[in-house]
Amino acid sequence: MLKGKNILIGLTGGIAAYKIPQLIRDLKKSGASVKIVMTDAAKEFVTPLTLSTVSGNEVVMGNFPQSDSNVLSAGTWHIDLAQWAHVMLIAPATANTIAKLAHGYADNAVTTLALAMRAPVVVSPSMDVDMWQRTQTQNNITSLRELGYIILPPEEGELASGLVGQGRLPDLPKIQNAVEEILQFAHQDFRGKKILITAGPTREAIDPVRYIGNRSSGKMGFALATAAAHRGAEVKLITGHVQIQTPKNVHRIDVENAQQMYNAVMKHKKGTDAIIMAAAVADFTPINSFSKKVKKEELDNDTLLLKLKKTKDILHSLGEGKKEGVLVGFSLETHNDIHNAMEKLKRKKLDLIILNNPKKKGAAFDSDTNIVTIISKNGKIEKLKKMPKYDVANEILNRVSKLLK
Ligand code: CTP
Repeated sequence: MLKGKNILIGLTGGIAAYKIPQLIRDLKKSGASVKIVMTDAAKEFVTPLTLSTVSGNEVVMGNFPQSDSNVLSAGTWHIDLAQWAHVMLIAPATANTIAKLAHGYADNAVTTLALAMRAPVVVSPSMDVDMWQRTQTQNNITSLRELGYIILPPEEGELASGLVGQGRLPDLPKIQNAVEEILQFAHQDFRGKKILITAGPTREAIDPVRYIGNRSSGKMGFALATAAAHRGAEVKLITGHVQIQTPKNVHRIDVENAQQMYNAVMKHKKGTDAIIMAAAVADFTPINSFSKKVKKEELDNDTLLLKLKKTKDILHSLGEGKKEGVLVGFSLETHNDIHNAMEKLKRKKLDLIILNNPKKKGAAFDSDTNIVTIISKNGKIEKLKKMPKYDVANEILNRVSKLLK
């Protein structure tokens, strides 16, 4: 499984660092090459000599290679190492390092590497239960997730302090499993491919302050962008208004309404290998929006009449004009779902349609998980179980990847 894989481990200053030499041995036994970077604080818990002995590689500390380094070039060591690694694992990750990562610090070997990495970075936090539960730490973890870091949550149990609670580093086989799973997705099969993804809701103006919108959070589209970037794609993400940070290595284009999304997609579609329309584009928009705020006192019979017209169907236009590349749509259905989705797939000339029902538990708007059925042009119907949106994204990309071949 790990044969030929390059794993970079970043150690920071937590007591669980003492477990990492064993993890290195396990990873090496499974065929991986392992290199180590560490913070000064990590040296208090495990020695560089131990780590270089078990990994068989020079350990990098500080922001500059040691003067006696044989293998690292002074100016570009971080880029060289980041390109070497298929995955980076930060374990244990302290609250301090998590805070730095969330804010883009690059003040030591671990944070610098994490920022330079294109391949996925897995963060395995370990700390005392109170530090883990603190709002600042939890906000930073949310930020990291949005930025495309993969978080391996700490486990419950007895902690070094004697307290009991969440904060333990997961058992080593669990960490190894997680790394193997990520590597499965991160095999860079999209390197050199251009992917255009849309996400989030559109807002159709009624007047300068009011709009018609929908409940899409954008999480599915952002998960697709994150996963595609992890797999080496050049990703453009056209998004409506959402509360999510831009994932690493993703080019984001913000739009407000359906017409702007249409214009942006038409502008950026050229040369793309695949287009995935995950956005919840408004189907209707006011024929005329008021240029001044509508005042309640000025209404006739306390009634405001809005006349709506259909928006341009972006996916339909893409299907009509399509000569090459893969086209993927989403279908949100609450009844007759397979039948409706298949009809949409045909009508819009798609290669794949991703069906979901927001009424199902675990598939609702704003949820971190989704339950989808993937339907292909050839009629194949695959019902997937409930899983995190990042995993759903990878399942979709696996099928896109096959179609691109
Ligand atoms: N879509 C689009 N342009 C629109 C509306 C939708 O590109 N103006 C895309 C969405 O991004 C999604 C798919 O089309 O990929 C959804 O198809 P649609 O027919 O709009 O389905 P619903 O919104 O569920 O509408 P309905 O079921 O009422 O047909």
